Amino acid sequence: MINISKPVIGKLEVDYVSKAVESGWVSSQGEYIQLFEKSFADFCDTKYCVLVANGTVALHLALEVLNIKEGDEVILPDLTFVATANVVCMAGATPVLADVRESDWCLDPVDVIKKITPKTKAIIPVHLYGHPAPMDELRSIADQYGIALIEDAAEAHGATYNGKKVGGMSDMGTFSFFGNKIITTGEGGALVTNSFELADRARFLRDHGMSREKRYWYPELGYNYRLTNLQAALGYAQMSRIETLIAQRNQLLIWYKKYITVDKITWNPSLTKIEPVNWMTCLVMNDFTSEERDQLIENLMKEGIDSRPFFYTVSSLPMYQQEPCPVSAKLSASGLNLPTHPGLTEETIRFISETTNKLITQIRQARS
Ligand SMILES: Cc1ncc(COP(=O)(O)O)c(C=O)c1O
Repeated sequence: MINISKPVIGKLEVDYVSKAVESGWVSSQGEYIQLFEKSFADFCDTKYCVLVANGTVALHLALEVLNIKEGDEVILPDLTFVATANVVCMAGATPVLADVRESDWCLDPVDVIKKITPKTKAIIPVHLYGHPAPMDELRSIADQYGIALIEDAAEAHGATYNGKKVGGMSDMGTFSFFGNKIITTGEGGALVTNSFELADRARFLRDHGMSREKRYWYPELGYNYRLTNLQAALGYAQMSRIETLIAQRNQLLIWYKKYITVDKITWNPSLTKIEPVNWMTCLVMNDFTSEERDQLIENLMKEGIDSRPFFYTVSSLPMYQQEPCPVSAKLSASGLNLPTHPGLTEETIRFISETTNKLITQIRQARS
């Protein structure tokens, strides 16, 4: 079986985690927390990094820091992982879905403007599958309407937009370190920002909202959203080769493009002045129905190749039921992700690609 994703855990990771275990600092204090926070903030070109338990709570924390609550609206793309919408509900606010663009599969500034109301308090662009959202346009909309901007960069560590790293182009950026992400801590996440006040408030709320002056005194509701020193040890080791891990993922896309030779397909977006990271190799089957796309996934599985359909649109999920967004719906129905992790060799990508070519051709031939 060729997995869709697989973490790369080396000797350094094992050494650092062992050291953390031996130090006795197994919970949320210990040297690896500071080391990882400093190195991840440097990597994102931001002043501050606040490590948290996962990418979902990183987003929720960002909303809490901004005091987003019941009666407020937050705009996010219809095509994203469900957590981006769920956190808005967790904060008691209302998610408002906007469409993505054909060109980059990210939040469409034109549709965002249409969805703004006096209740809109934040916009959450998602750097989907590693491709940065149009941050300049979204920044100027946010500034014009006095709305906060939070980047969901869970899938895009290291991607750049006009030379700027994702995560640092908004009020706060959030990341995931889940096992299938570019670097992993098992479960884990981070909030990055250039604002001392926002980082300080995030640290306060991450730790149950405990007063800094008076231990065990809680002036307001907070959360336990902390990452452990053990997880930070793993993440800090991963940071030592994050650039290599990204380069290896990007190389996979080059090989896939070389060996998948069928027509009527669209690859991961690529726009000028933008350097995405190939978190997941994407293939959109332009002439396929969603049933045919699902058939392809099933047939790949029979050949020992694990693949995934694109995310279902948020508007199609039972708890969100909203007007469907046409571009999101089309991509969601026809896209799939192929195996993408640094352990894959050119030979394996060639095998996956040739099998994919064969299965796509078979499905097309079966129509006539
Ligand atoms: C776009 C997006 N946002 C948020 C998350 C949530 O991250 P986590 O799984 O670490 O909670 C993910 C994770 O898969 C994601 O892909």
